[in-house]
Amino acid sequence: MGSCCSVRIRADHSPRRDGLSSRYVSFDGRDTSSRRSSSSSVPLTPRNEGEILESTNLKTFGFNDLRIATRNFRPDSVLGEGGFGCVFKGWIDENTFKAAKPGTGTVIAVKRLNQEGFQGHKEWLTEINYLGQLYHPNLVKLIGYCLEDEHRLLVYEFMPRGSLENHLFRRTSYFQPLSWKLRMKVALGAAKGLAYLHSPNAKVIYRDFKSSNILLDSNYNAKLSDFRLAKDGPMDGKSHVSTRVMGTYGYAAPVHGHRDFSYHQIHFSGHLTARSDVYSFGVVLLEMLTGRRVLDKNRPHGEQNLIEWARPYLASKRRVLRVMDARIEGQYSPSGALKAATIAVKCLAVEPKYRPTMNEVVKALEQLQDTDIVKAEEAQKHRRTCAEDSSRKATSSYPRPASPIVA
Ligand SMILES: Nc1ncnc2c1ncn2[C@@H]1O[C@H](COP(=O)(O)OP(=O)(O)OP(=O)(O)O)[C@@H](O)[C@H]1O
Ligand SMILES: [Mg+2]
Repeated sequence: MGSCCSVRIRADHSPRRDGLSSRYVSFDGRDTSSRRSSSSSVPLTPRNEGEILESTNLKTFGFNDLRIATRNFRPDSVLGEGGFGCVFKGWIDENTFKAAKPGTGTVIAVKRLNQEGFQGHKEWLTEINYLGQLYHPNLVKLIGYCLEDEHRLLVYEFMPRGSLENHLFRRTSYFQPLSWKLRMKVALGAAKGLAYLHSPNAKVIYRDFKSSNILLDSNYNAKLSDFRLAKDGPMDGKSHVSTRVMGTYGYAAPVHGHRDFSYHQIHFSGHLTARSDVYSFGVVLLEMLTGRRVLDKNRPHGEQNLIEWARPYLASKRRVLRVMDARIEGQYSPSGALKAATIAVKCLAVEPKYRPTMNEVVKALEQLQDTDIVKAEEAQKHRRTCAEDSSRKATSSYPRPASPIVA
């Protein structure tokens, strides 16, 4: 799970769409009341907690209903665990939204906040404020929330195939390694989700793009989850948002400025732009190509940092094959592998201005699906036919009677 393998980089303030009233959010002295331009198609960001909770189309759930829906938060209902808390599988009636018998009604995923205090509440509210207002086929759907006494929960659509992280890195019989074709489909879906967030319609910087936050539906459509670190993009012609940069160590773009390593939290002062998400996209794409985690302490020295290890191999057709995931060998063409690696390299440019936009990434991945998947499938079909032919020849030659001796 992500939280077990990566250190979360947190900021202790998020002055924009965190939705807290200015009474709470005065860290940087900004006026948070005039936030969103009226040209945006996302509704104006409400100013305080009460307004946020009322303004979304989200359903409010009672704690007891969610307790029953998840069978008392039974350990065997746990779908995963992250920095926010555990995620449980549950069942509700699709009309009344009341708890339903397991196996009936609609399946949901319930995330239960396990942290106490201000930071947890703020992230819970940020998630509601963003996901309650953003709709796109490549974003996970937030159905509702529960706020009762000290309980803070979030209720999502259930994503039957879990996270991309599990498919790439978990070695169990349940999670088979994703094929090349599915990896490219997931990459495209996730890229479309990010491109939407960066579009003028949403203008959001996601800040936590990583394989555990990409969830998959039954058809392997990718949906981004976890908006608790999201932030409004720069407004009024500004090029960046000044903030403490956050995300997950390994996935966050390198930034200039001051680093403060205190306890588990790492704070960077820096300029945040949508291109920070593009960098993280490059990291995840590289994880998909190689089947390796961005940071892996279990690998030999020199291979623990995926980007440093893989970079020298990503520029030629011959070399790139040496870092590709061995489990998908033969499913792609060398030129397809190189094209995908080239997209990753561009996203991973150290200078943000040399990184492509997510729209450009979407176009490049679409071209790759159109050409390489077809090519790879043809190659596979050809290989299969050859194999079938030779086995036919082998079997048909076996019982064949000895050739007549021609005089
Ligand atoms: N809607 C969902 N449907 C199915 N499984 C889910 C859903 N949401 C989360 N999960 C599972 O729960 C796991 C934990 O999710 P969560 O977002 O809380 O943590 P994380 O992404 O692993 O780590 P972090 O806290 O750093 O974001 C996910 O990796 C996924 O396997
Ligand atoms: Mg997550």
